[in-house]
Amino acid sequence: MVILRSINPSETSTGKHVAIVGLTCDSHNWSSINSSLDELSELVLSIGAIVEIRMVQERKRQDPRLFLGKGKVRLLAKSCAEKDVSMVIVDNELSGVQLRNLESELGRRVIDRTELILEIFASRARTREGKLQVELAQLRYCLPRLVGTGKELSRLGAGIGTRGPGEMRLETDRRKIRLRIGVLSRAIEAVRRRRSNTSARRRKKLVSTIALVGYTNAGKTSVFNMLTTSSSLTSDVLFTTLDPLVRRMPFGGHRPVLLSDTVGFISRLPHTLVAAFRATLEQASEADLLLHVIDVSHPERERQIDSVKSVLREMGADHVPLLEVLNKCDLLDVSSYFHLRRINSEAMLVSALTGKGRENLLERISEELLLDVRRVTFNFRNSSEEDKRQITQLYRYGRVIRHVMKNEDVSIEADVPLNLLERFRMRKSINKLEVDRSE
Ligand code: GTP
Repeated sequence: MVILRSINPSETSTGKHVAIVGLTCDSHNWSSINSSLDELSELVLSIGAIVEIRMVQERKRQDPRLFLGKGKVRLLAKSCAEKDVSMVIVDNELSGVQLRNLESELGRRVIDRTELILEIFASRARTREGKLQVELAQLRYCLPRLVGTGKELSRLGAGIGTRGPGEMRLETDRRKIRLRIGVLSRAIEAVRRRRSNTSARRRKKLVSTIALVGYTNAGKTSVFNMLTTSSSLTSDVLFTTLDPLVRRMPFGGHRPVLLSDTVGFISRLPHTLVAAFRATLEQASEADLLLHVIDVSHPERERQIDSVKSVLREMGADHVPLLEVLNKCDLLDVSSYFHLRRINSEAMLVSALTGKGRENLLERISEELLLDVRRVTFNFRNSSEEDKRQITQLYRYGRVIRHVMKNEDVSIEADVPLNLLERFRMRKSINKLEVDRSE
């Protein structure tokens, strides 16, 4: 296996001091750079290191050679020396040239946000598949960043290079990496094929699948445990969940429902990572329902929601029905709790910690998946406003099988969740033909 020049967590962890650095090109953008650096601090904490210096520069554009301005780099070098900082982590993605120049100016290791996230993923991956995916992402990240001549050569360390100097070694490194990328891609493709066969088999058996998605640390695994009453490892460490867990949910009836826990998202999730984790993330795009778990107590809640949505779009999973699960509601005060209920009546408020909202959530999932339905034929009059409203509701909450119009009369055959049936019967459910779908 190719070994990357690495910030191996054991190397950075246990009390190592680091500097985090950001750059903004827009003076109105300070709040967003600050929250990005807050998040970077959390990532640093998750590898056990301590943020000693936090520095932001406002500048028209990045310096193509050094990323920061020359003066700022000098200042940073001085502060790093004073505070015994051993590594500098830059919030933006850097080019190979910027990385090499910054390292030589600062005299200490420099990594960027992407490399940090990749390393965290690398240290958390448990299954063979997860490990393959992270390694692929690391190599794809690394390849265009192999720069340099002479002894200050590559961003790869022991395990890959031959001893040949200069460009020759650079070429050898590149060739080896490309070969390894080929091997990994084929292995991952095989996993993907196996998975899509399994999905096809599940669809044939009428198995419903639900995937949990959400920002890292939102509580996906805790919600997973609450819903499946299992106890997978949960922790405050970011990205505990890398490899998908799948478990059966405790619904009665004939149709099994499988719930899968997926990888935690984060804003600006490195592109290489999204690409490499496609096999895992595809679980979400093939699901019948997505549960978007949101940490309702997080001050950056809205930004986290947007990030998750944008990753879902990127994965082509934005067509899948989605239910927002506002988790950690035990951390809300009473007035915020009721305010949220008022403004977002569709969302489910739960606490995976206390189990609050569990039953409502299960009921809602059952409705969304039309688990407990009756097939009924309704007759409506097109001229009636009330009937029109009911037709809209039928399309919203049921699954319409047949819709026939004859002059003023509309006949609709649909699968309707049992608990909503009364709502429609109140008006008119003539010609009731009840067939339990599961029979
Ligand atoms: P990643 O693996 O990073 O994606 O995390 P995750 O989204 O799976 O989160 P996880 O379930 O590991 O929970 C993260 C932290 O939040 C843990 O410390 C949990 O104990 C805590 N947590 C989860 N749900 C709740 C909740 O309802 N209330 C409170 N107060 N804490 C919770």
